[in-house]
Amino acid sequence: PFFDYPLAMTECVIIGFWTFVNKKISLFLSLRLSLRGQLSYGAHDMVATKIPGYFKSRRDALMKKHPSSAFIFCGAKENYRNPDVTFPFRQESNFYYLTGLQEAEASLVLIPSSTKGDYKTILFMLPKDREKEMWTGERYGVEGALQVFGADEAYPCDEFEKKLPELLKTADQVYYRIGLDETIDRKILAALEVFRRSLGRSGKSMAPILDPNSVLGEMRLFKSPEEIEIMKSACSISAQAHKTLMKEVKPGMNEFEVEALLNYLFRKNGCQRIGYGSIVAGGKNSTCLHYTFNNEVLKDGDLLLIDAGGEVDYYSADITRTFPVGKKFSESQTKSYELVLKSQLECIAMTRPGVKLPEIHKHASEVLIDGFLSLGLLKGSRSEIFEKAIHKRFYPHNTSHWLGMDVHDVGLYSLNGEPRELKPGMVFTIEPGFYVQPNDRDVAEEYKNIGIRIEDDILVTQQGCEVLSKEAPKSISDIEALRA
Ligand code: GLY
Ligand code: MN
Ligand code: MN
Repeated sequence: PFFDYPLAMTECVIIGFWTFVNKKISLFLSLRLSLRGQLSYGAHDMVATKIPGYFKSRRDALMKKHPSSAFIFCGAKENYRNPDVTFPFRQESNFYYLTGLQEAEASLVLIPSSTKGDYKTILFMLPKDREKEMWTGERYGVEGALQVFGADEAYPCDEFEKKLPELLKTADQVYYRIGLDETIDRKILAALEVFRRSLGRSGKSMAPILDPNSVLGEMRLFKSPEEIEIMKSACSISAQAHKTLMKEVKPGMNEFEVEALLNYLFRKNGCQRIGYGSIVAGGKNSTCLHYTFNNEVLKDGDLLLIDAGGEVDYYSADITRTFPVGKKFSESQTKSYELVLKSQLECIAMTRPGVKLPEIHKHASEVLIDGFLSLGLLKGSRSEIFEKAIHKRFYPHNTSHWLGMDVHDVGLYSLNGEPRELKPGMVFTIEPGFYVQPNDRDVAEEYKNIGIRIEDDILVTQQGCEVLSKEAPKSISDIEALRA
């Protein structure tokens, strides 16, 4: 017969068996792949597999306060300095604060969920890509977002635009920082427009866009116990580095040698990077407030001003110490230094909850003005000099700023038009200074080129304050003992 039944049966059995085996093989392969997905976050890989629970607690706190809002945070991108060469990557601070994720091109969307009072964490990630990862290192991918970072949903980042209109449907308003990246701005506006059109003739309007900065700023201004631990570590490592430099610096060294030593000490002792460009300023350079050339030879007889802080887990120290390049302060340097130190110590002594930063600044300025008067650098009355800001010739900057993930950290300085009171958990700097510009003609010769700043990092406590950077010596006798 045309149809050979037994042969067909055999064939069917063979094909069936083959299909079965094939299925098993592909099941085995996919199991292995998904296992690999999990194992790829194992101990031998490049990326962290566990992140502390406080990142989720911060999202919980944010969404508890803004239950009907959506938040969109775009992480940092890779920035190129040459073809194929990127600047060192640092995650955007708010993004890191809410996720703990240190990977480029990611976006975080938080939305109210249909379960009342609950919310969803959605991450958009660079997808896994074996070839690219071979070049630039391991990626978390979509699976990593779910497994490591606790996202409820995760998508490849190129689906951001497509998914967004649907996601934003549940929100009454959208928090997104407009103006940082035009391409992303356009995507988000387009998503909101799609959403608006979907409302049809309901009479509802497009969800308003609000700036998340002050909301996040308020959270980040008050440091949690975990954040305080990290800041203590950044400040201690940085203060010890300043102390080491007081022993190691010699006349004839270049400012960049000192900078290199700082980088080494920060990295070796646990900082991942510097918190800001280090200022290593000898002699006349110390009078330039944000000097960063760091390329001149240090001369005996000059002062050296070092403003440098390392960053631990995204929290920065900000410490300035000034000491002689030689063994001892000269007479005019001693008088100037004692003045700045007096101002700084009195400001620290007055710090406690309820005090306001402008009060601290006023006090710092008044002590300095009294000193400028007694040194014969200014004439007139203290109050007139302060009112007319005449002292800015020698003390042109403010005394304090918030400190945290950003060296000049986020957080409002005033509430309802009034300077706000210090509260426990806030961290800020106290950094009075005294600078005589090289081209200031009407100043006695021995004060020319003197630039002094003494900067410490202060945690406000229930009773008063704690100086987190206290391990960096600052009395003349302690400094000269190290210079001997
Ligand atoms: N390092 C910059 C400042 O002291 O504010
Ligand atoms: Mn500072
Ligand atoms: Mn500083």
